[in-house]
Amino acid sequence: MTPPLLPTPFDELRRGRLPATMATMLSPFSVDEHERHVVALAEDGGRSPVHGLEIDTPPGLYRPHAASSSQFILRTLLRERPRLGRLLELGCGTGVLGLTLLYQGLADEVLMLDVTDAAVHAAQANLERAGLAARAQVRQGDLFAPVAGPAPQRFDSVLFNLPLMHADHGGRRHPALDDTAGQLAWRFFEQLPAHLAPQGRAFFSYANISDPAPLEALGEQMAVELLAAEWVARSGFWLFVYEARPKRPQ
Ligand SMILES: C[S@@+](CC[C@H](N)C(=O)[O-])C[C@H]1O[C@@H](n2cnc3c(N)ncnc32)[C@H](O)[C@@H]1O
Repeated sequence: MTPPLLPTPFDELRRGRLPATMATMLSPFSVDEHERHVVALAEDGGRSPVHGLEIDTPPGLYRPHAASSSQFILRTLLRERPRLGRLLELGCGTGVLGLTLLYQGLADEVLMLDVTDAAVHAAQANLERAGLAARAQVRQGDLFAPVAGPAPQRFDSVLFNLPLMHADHGGRRHPALDDTAGQLAWRFFEQLPAHLAPQGRAFFSYANISDPAPLEALGEQMAVELLAAEWVARSGFWLFVYEARPKRPQ
């Protein structure tokens, strides 16, 4: 009989947990850096070159700078090159992810949603300047609300670069960065399966400053795979990109 494999640190990482051996590398829980990030977002706008597009970020929105989760997701997907077909992006912010994946030919069309007015306006402006209006749309709403209803719309792929800080840190918060107690993650994972085509796939960010419980619960419903992990030295946390697919019927 084959002996059971010993657990490795990567088994824990795959579940979205920081293994004890790596926890010693975590900087004192990066609330100070988080606070600096929230303040910086209020002032930090400008134009960013992103894989062939120029993305404008008004002050107050999440900017796709070189070390951002946006660029990490794009590096991962441009390396893996999944066929995204008709893509739904939640929390689109400036639209950088949906527009780049369309421009780079991974998606055929994209519907981008965000809860804030500012994001919807910025994504619309970036979409028009990129000349992608024929295959991209932006709408406002909470999570899947604009595509929900008695017959929820299904997509070939769903993407969400989530707000990753689930800790109730007592400092300033920002809707792009904070999801206190992981309420948004819980709702996203619960509603996701109803919006994926049978062969569909979802991609999303997660971190070890996020609660592992919602991710564990998703693993009960869907096949979840870790695609990439990156140590963000400045912020002192691990950033992950996951893929989730409907489980095959047993
Ligand atoms: C980390 S930012 C990602 C922005 C952009 N997708 C990117 O990668 O640069 C998270 C985004 O989620 C949006 N968001 C937060 N709560 C939301 C909700 N309840 N429904 C939809 N979007 C939400 C924020 O407004 C923000 O634009």
